[in-house]
Amino acid sequence: DKAGYRHFMAKEIAEQPTVLAGALSAYLDGDDIDFGEAGLDFTGTERLTMVACGTAYYACLTAKYWFERLAGLPVEVDIASEFRYREPPITSGTTALFVSQSGETADTLAALRYCRDKADRILSVVNVDESSIARESDLALPIHAGVEVGVASTKAFTCQLNVLLLMAIEAAFQRGRITAKEKAQHLADLRSLPGIFNVALERDEIIADSARDMVEARDVLFLGRGLMYPLALEGALKLKEISYVHAEAYASGELKHGPIALIDASVPVVVMAPRDSLFDKTVSNMQEVMARGGNVLLVTDAAGAAAAGSEVWRTIILPEVPEMLAPLLYALPAQLLAYHGAVAKGTDVDQPRNLAKSVTVE
Ligand code: F6R
Repeated sequence: DKAGYRHFMAKEIAEQPTVLAGALSAYLDGDDIDFGEAGLDFTGTERLTMVACGTAYYACLTAKYWFERLAGLPVEVDIASEFRYREPPITSGTTALFVSQSGETADTLAALRYCRDKADRILSVVNVDESSIARESDLALPIHAGVEVGVASTKAFTCQLNVLLLMAIEAAFQRGRITAKEKAQHLADLRSLPGIFNVALERDEIIADSARDMVEARDVLFLGRGLMYPLALEGALKLKEISYVHAEAYASGELKHGPIALIDASVPVVVMAPRDSLFDKTVSNMQEVMARGGNVLLVTDAAGAAAAGSEVWRTIILPEVPEMLAPLLYALPAQLLAYHGAVAKGTDVDQPRNLAKSVTVE
């Protein structure tokens, strides 16, 4: 049931404030995080190996920043199809963590089985509780996104990020990197996010306008730094898969190392950059783009918009949020850009060509 929306994807984007609120409350018990009866102990964990495909892989890349920065835990992230055939050594002290909406992705499941007798334990973050990946894990943490019908993953991504951030906060606390008070503050920040999602969704019109212009281009570039780099990758993937526009994402700092050669007036460049500790560096990358005639679509907050100057082609202004939460919030405009781009092109938004919701063969 599309609940009055034109596409399942539109409905699944729009319901994220409610879905996230529910997904969060499933894990909160007052000022504490509740991972179920068995609990989740990170004190003996020396490193995390995270494995997934597609959008779930980008959720893992985001979580790497969280686990490393908040919890001081070394993290490796890999694409399941690479991991499984590379057969990397897994040493003791390793927790293996698999992220999959469907819980049935063939490569991710094979990677899990490869880790079975090698890692200290197998964790998974899934949307389908009865899935193979959930069953074969020592502990499966549900993301509580509800059924996702659109082939392009939207609410599952933000709900995956939610669980991964809760895990990183808990790991940080158990490892003595944050105090109980700081943990409570992180949770309070997270609790405020569903309301902030609503504000982001109100940017629908300017995003739709930008998307209509953007899908006229042959190529689109997405740039982001730090926590925004995985988001840039996710934005580019979404645009490719449903609007069939070629999009590529780069870590902003890589621009000079090759992709800047692509820039001219015909290449829109989407820059995801809240005014965080790395903002000034991203602004200088943006100026390099604009100096070559590139049209910058900047997704930022009010402080970022003020600092970015007037040369920017279009600015989408989101509320200010604590740095760690930005990936969840910035996912929404990335999804809406792709959605409206696809609608403008008239593609089959919920059933893009050549794609399946669940990739159970490699
Ligand atoms: C992109 C998308 C895919 C999936 C990938 C993994 O919008 O939906 O990239 O994220 O196929 O699927 P799961 O999470 O089911 O393992």
